[in-house]
Amino acid sequence: MQRFGLLTLGCMTVAFPALAADPLAFDAKAFTTVHVTVDGQPMELRRYRVVYVSKPTEIDISGPPSSGGPGGPGGPPGAGGPPGAPPQAAGAAAMGGAPSDSHAYQTMFIYVPVSSAADTAKAIILQVNNGGWMASPVRDILREGQALSASSDTDNTGAALKAGYIVVSAGTRSRGIRDTAGDWAGKAPAVIVDAKAAVRYLRLNDAVMPGSAERIVITGTSGGGALSVAVSASGNSADYLPYLAAVGAAGVDASGKSTLRDDVFATIAYCPINDLGNSDTAYEWQFSAVRTAGNTQAGRWAPANQAASTALAAQYPAFLDGLKLKRDDGSLLTAANLPQSIVAAVKASVETAIARGDKIPALGEDFEITRRGPGGGAGGVAKIKNEWLTVEGGQVRNIDYTKYLKFVAGNQTLKGVPAFDATASSGNVGVTGENTLFGPAKVAYSNFTQYAWDHNEVKGDASGKDDTGLDWKAYIAGPGMALAQQLKMASPLPYLQSKAATPVPYRYIRHGSLDRDTAFAIQVTLATAVKNNPAVKDTNFKIAWMQPHAGNYDVQEAYSWLAGVLDKAGVPK
Ligand code: DHB
Repeated sequence: MQRFGLLTLGCMTVAFPALAADPLAFDAKAFTTVHVTVDGQPMELRRYRVVYVSKPTEIDISGPPSSGGPGGPGGPPGAGGPPGAPPQAAGAAAMGGAPSDSHAYQTMFIYVPVSSAADTAKAIILQVNNGGWMASPVRDILREGQALSASSDTDNTGAALKAGYIVVSAGTRSRGIRDTAGDWAGKAPAVIVDAKAAVRYLRLNDAVMPGSAERIVITGTSGGGALSVAVSASGNSADYLPYLAAVGAAGVDASGKSTLRDDVFATIAYCPINDLGNSDTAYEWQFSAVRTAGNTQAGRWAPANQAASTALAAQYPAFLDGLKLKRDDGSLLTAANLPQSIVAAVKASVETAIARGDKIPALGEDFEITRRGPGGGAGGVAKIKNEWLTVEGGQVRNIDYTKYLKFVAGNQTLKGVPAFDATASSGNVGVTGENTLFGPAKVAYSNFTQYAWDHNEVKGDASGKDDTGLDWKAYIAGPGMALAQQLKMASPLPYLQSKAATPVPYRYIRHGSLDRDTAFAIQVTLATAVKNNPAVKDTNFKIAWMQPHAGNYDVQEAYSWLAGVLDKAGVPK
């Protein structure tokens, strides 16, 4: 319905069509005040809560999110015990609790230090969750009276506020939620679309908001790290526009054209569970030779899993070699030399530890691995013999790659086989893992890899050769093109290797040396692809010494890196 306003001009009153208020306009006055302390100093914050799209999906919040659970099909870590839940451990911490309302998955909190309220140059730290690649309702992360610590190594929000940055905590749709019509509402690329929509909201309102949309730093851990690298690789890609239009994201016009950019400035990503389409093959390529019944998720090393492991491992080299990525010395990264590249990254990690004075056990002595208990509390110390690392006179003399992998698998039980696309293959029963992210909104899951598709064992689930009559390659080249596109849009690699996107220029990527949630191969490949992209100006990739599957454990290093690249980039125009 057309609305009218009245305007009086001299003695004449005229009616004119009223401009409908833009639902995505930022109202600078609509804040509540929150008082926190940062390193003991009081700080006043303005807290805004906004729905960042104009057509949010109506999510059914009557029941708990279902399907798959966080953390993927690795399930509860087994023998050896979990490295546990550090302050910002991946998975559980990112689950985000119960949604407050049906739009909570497309809502964000914006926290502005009062001292930055009139500053239009400050960075905006966009925190995303997506733990387990699951949907994440928005979380109010800063409460009245909260004490933050900018000087600790685990409080990224404290460090951001101390620097005067704007902090944003965004909810996003992803797997595990249904809309009120009963459809799965978070199939890929929904989560990337939502994070981009949040970026677009910030850009639309840049002129009236504190901080600069030219200095957005997207950050997250694990599923959130994967989301961060996917968003940062695919800036301004047209692939996402129809999806952005469907949710009413800022800056997509009626004809579906983009009128705003959605590239970001930097990313700080921890253990990104990225490139899901190649994660199963990479995992087996890396771990198959060291797997045993004792170090693999219970019940997932039966003969069917062993056959799958061998077949998956054999598929990976052709994929990696086909990427034609270049290492620092100009040679091609291949499956033949990837172990060497992984060892080089681990060596650098040990060297950092030596330089800061960490005690490194001699060969035959024990590593003492501190476990965090539930909620980040004390969990004890596990002792695992060093059979892989030789350090002499403060120098790394040798790293035995295979024994290192055994050590990782001895510290925390490996995922089952297949590790990611698990459902309906190799005797895996029940819906578990990342395949609930894929397929049409009507189905609970779809296999998304060649092996699981071609070996799907469940008749009537609409997934696999058994139901479609087509093997994977024929399917994704024909009726399954939409599935291939979902996979592409959830991964950074295709965008890093294309010119049709604006990649983020500054990247900080970490993966723990104890982390077995995805293969080291995946992270070394990602870092190499990032470095190979000519638009990327700074790649800071490290294997973090003795860190498990977690994030925000090196906040001082990360935030001083960020301050440095912000400095280098200068004041945004
Ligand atoms: C996460 C962990 C996983 O093992 C996985 O497959 C996906 C995501 C996570 O912690 O977010």
